[in-house]
Amino acid sequence: MHRRQFVLGAMGAGLSAGSTSALAQAAAKECSRAAIPYGAAIRVDLLRDDQEYRRAVLGNCQLVVGEGGLKWIDLRPEPGKFHFDHPDRLLAFADANGMRMRGHTLAWYAAMPKWTEAISTKAEAERVLYEHIDTVVGRYKGRIPSWDVVNEAISDNPAVEAPMRKSIWQDLIGTQHVELALRRTAAVDPNAQLVLNDFGFENPTEQCRAKRAAFLRLVRDLKDRDAPLHAIGLQGHLPGEKDIDKDGISSFVAELHGMGLSILVTELDVIDDKLPRDRAIRDDIVASRVRAFLQAVGDVCRPEAVLTWGISDRFTWVPIWFRRKDGEPNRPLPLDANYRPKPMMRVIREFTRAKL
Ligand code: XIL
Repeated sequence: MHRRQFVLGAMGAGLSAGSTSALAQAAAKECSRAAIPYGAAIRVDLLRDDQEYRRAVLGNCQLVVGEGGLKWIDLRPEPGKFHFDHPDRLLAFADANGMRMRGHTLAWYAAMPKWTEAISTKAEAERVLYEHIDTVVGRYKGRIPSWDVVNEAISDNPAVEAPMRKSIWQDLIGTQHVELALRRTAAVDPNAQLVLNDFGFENPTEQCRAKRAAFLRLVRDLKDRDAPLHAIGLQGHLPGEKDIDKDGISSFVAELHGMGLSILVTELDVIDDKLPRDRAIRDDIVASRVRAFLQAVGDVCRPEAVLTWGISDRFTWVPIWFRRKDGEPNRPLPLDANYRPKPMMRVIREFTRAKL
């Protein structure tokens, strides 16, 4: 198994061959039938403070990723000092329980501490980014096997704005920041799986089509430059009210796989603010979107991992931006607020537990 495919273990598995394009069918033929571990984004303090949360993670997850902890705002609230407590504790939990930990994320536009606003030149931006990667990836070398090196590099809607998202890195270094970050990370940990992670590819809209096209252009350019890029993270924050673009996703994944890239589903949840109030109806729609999305990906290439962005509705980021107008709690995740499995968890288990 290629060391950069960070998940060990392989189970033969039949795949529905319902792929739609010749490219997708070709990709499906060669794609390895790897087992698919499931994981979730974790709030480290809850592992200590909430025993039901801890039991839910232990009972369901083979992978973990910090929901926070490795973001700049958490790691470096002030210049010159790194706070590794949370990622260290999550890695210790993963190591103690036979889980693998993903690193999220080294270069992002968001969650940046105020002191970074003073960075004003290309040279300074490169120096600070390299110092960050050297320190953080160096600390976890050989222990965090997969990194979201650059997160959300593509703008929300390349159909109407510049394709690359504004960030300190894009503004000061340019698009080359992606390649520089990948190369620096590979230099620090040559065996790590290096991932570009992004969202907004999943629906049959002009915006998603433009985002898929812009992302493919970036990836092709990186591969043409022989940049050390090994996998793509499809975040999978699915708008519950929108159809899944099966053909669009399958062709997109086939193109990425055709460039030799592994696929991970990294932040799966369903944004249900525009779905019906009724919980049973809402849960079924949520599960149907997850099934359609995973099938559109899996019909071309089984993802190397499926992670949800949280595990229980009790702790989800979704209401930060997508609070329901009717005041009902959001239900975006596989377990409800009392840690009971919902239809979404049954779909994930069905998809990830390959049948030998
Ligand atoms: C979110 C966290 O879940 C929130 O707690 C935090 O306030 C903001 O960031 N895409 C990403 C994640 O890549 O890092 C974001 O996580 C959600 C969207």
